[in-house]
Amino acid sequence: MTEREPHYAGIPPTALPPIPRNPVHVVLDNLRSAFNVGSIFRTADAGAAAHIHLCGLSAHPPHIKLAKTALGAFEYVPWTYHERTADALDHLGREGILRVAIEVTPDAVPLHEFAWPRPVALVFGHEVTGIGEATLAHCDAVVKIPMHGRKNSMNVATAFGVVLYHVLDRWKALGD
Ligand SMILES: C[S@@+](CC[C@H](N)C(=O)[O-])C[C@H]1O[C@@H](n2cnc3c(N)ncnc32)[C@H](O)[C@@H]1O
Repeated sequence: MTEREPHYAGIPPTALPPIPRNPVHVVLDNLRSAFNVGSIFRTADAGAAAHIHLCGLSAHPPHIKLAKTALGAFEYVPWTYHERTADALDHLGREGILRVAIEVTPDAVPLHEFAWPRPVALVFGHEVTGIGEATLAHCDAVVKIPMHGRKNSMNVATAFGVVLYHVLDRWKALGD
């Protein structure tokens, strides 16, 4: 297998047996970079996340830039596109899933102090403007990754990887 070939190259995704998924629902609120969306797909596949909700501006397959960083992962992670982020959040709320905005705000709880529910929805925002006010108002909690350097935030796809694996570790879901 080379880095450019999907692990299951040649086998239609629908022919693969289902895998157990971790009940992590990902909501992307108007991401402007299709490369970031592709990178998030790849990490979501690694952590067997349940679903990705692509909202508003966020690129969705088929998309050439997304495909470059996803390296086929969008074939394996269930996803839905919503024009309005609120629709995705309302749907998750009706399912009884706690919606956690991952954002740097004055009142945000540091991720290591948060009691992570299972299932959970993780909401991420635009690369420059962050999660929109209306979207924040639809969330049940706000969690931040502590920043110990000079910058206020990190790349959104990197932030996703940090939070996803932190949650899986808390759930003791990283074993064999
Ligand atoms: C680059 S940040 C957006 C800019 C950020 N609002 C700012 O004022 O610097 C893009 C997205 O990544 C996530 N993010 C990046 N760093 C984060 C951190 N330290 N804690 C929580 N979320 C973070 C958030 O979802 C955010 O909306």
